[in-house]
Amino acid sequence: ARKRSLTIDGKSYPSDSWTNAPENILIQYGRRLHVQPNHPLSIARQLIESCFPGFQHHNSLPGVVTVDQNFDSLGFASDHPGRSKTDTYYLNQDTVLRTHTSAHEVDVFRANTSNGYTICGDVYRRDAIDRTHYPIFHQIEGALTWDRSAFKSSEHFSQHIQNDLARLGSAGVDVEDPNPTFHPERNPLQAKHHAAEEAEAIAAHLKRSLEHMAVAIFTAADKALKASDHAAQEEQEPLKIRWVEAFFPHTSPSWELEVWWRGDWLEVLGCGVIEQPLLIRADVPSRMGWAFGLGLERLAMLLFGIPDIRLFWSKDQRFLGQFDENKPIKRFQPFSKYPAAPRDVAFWIPDAGAAVVETPATTSSSPSPAGGQITAAPPPDTPSFHENDLMEVVRDTAGDSVEDVSLIDKFTHPKTGRQSLCYRITYRSLEKTLTTEEANDLHEQIRRELVARFGVELR
Ligand code: PHE
Repeated sequence: ARKRSLTIDGKSYPSDSWTNAPENILIQYGRRLHVQPNHPLSIARQLIESCFPGFQHHNSLPGVVTVDQNFDSLGFASDHPGRSKTDTYYLNQDTVLRTHTSAHEVDVFRANTSNGYTICGDVYRRDAIDRTHYPIFHQIEGALTWDRSAFKSSEHFSQHIQNDLARLGSAGVDVEDPNPTFHPERNPLQAKHHAAEEAEAIAAHLKRSLEHMAVAIFTAADKALKASDHAAQEEQEPLKIRWVEAFFPHTSPSWELEVWWRGDWLEVLGCGVIEQPLLIRADVPSRMGWAFGLGLERLAMLLFGIPDIRLFWSKDQRFLGQFDENKPIKRFQPFSKYPAAPRDVAFWIPDAGAAVVETPATTSSSPSPAGGQITAAPPPDTPSFHENDLMEVVRDTAGDSVEDVSLIDKFTHPKTGRQSLCYRITYRSLEKTLTTEEANDLHEQIRRELVARFGVELR
């Protein structure tokens, strides 16, 4: 039976038909890994903050926010798939665990205590289980705005930003930026609010600032790799950056920044020119500017060579003892891995055709730069089996003892049209060897839960 209310940080939230935040998530709430001394996520955060001197850094904004803060204030459409219960943890119909740090943008703009800021914190998304996905991760985002009303014309305003840009200087890296700043449909100028030259200047300043940040991050990653690995010392192709058109409800035009690093294009961040309605809503209508956001785990995994996202949650000194925020970044030395215990579960889903399997972001090998972009999902009240429901049963039952859950077979019965799914669950603890019996037990519990909660028929 569902509890009548959930209590977080001493505040109680009455439950309703939207409530779906499970205990296994709520017990992790408040760990604040991004400010834990010498934690790799905190070190990654500080590296990024150091790229924006003079910005105000917000690291304690609470993870429980209103639906208005998380979606409406940012201009998310009322039918945006990110609002779905299959993707987002609701405490109740008005309250969610934030799915991104952008939930605080309007509040921070309204406070208007600095031209530039960063916001870092824990964010929550229902998602797949594998070595790079965890339902709680961390984002950092930043924004810079200027007061347009301090200038007598758009030309003066743009010139001022161009001067700021000239002070930044080149990032000393090869940059591919083939597209014009605006695309009339996909990446439009906010013509109602911005003169083209103003938005052009802001976009140029945005790109240059983030190129500097990318160079700082990847130079640090390169140094760490060279210091730990002889093979990594050979001559490398130089870093390259490219700008790719993107879409976010709260910026236009928008881009993703990708970095060519040691043989791969990596998506690093999402960004754009802030949607003016946000600034109007925040009662600073004359300010204009840019914003970016990125997922910290992916960056920290790359910087330190951390192979499994669950390690960030470890309290094991063999992990935590390896990081020192006062020393140059050093690669993580994996300690021995305990053996994996794979087990398969196959079942018929109850209502043929109602299944939603594989959400694109979670099955793709390159999730969005901000970490698991909001993706297509059914409307909130579709009664069906969603892959994320299985993920949740697995987490509720086996917690961090599961390393990966993958769909290995999907089959539709030719006559009945019923659908059968087979998932491989890989059990492997980071802390100990799971015995055959322990793995069997966990697996049996998961099988029973699947039947009890979703009425699947085991095969
Ligand atoms: N909020 C976006 C996400 O979570 C990232 C972003 C932040 C994009 C700020 C643009 C500006 O995917």
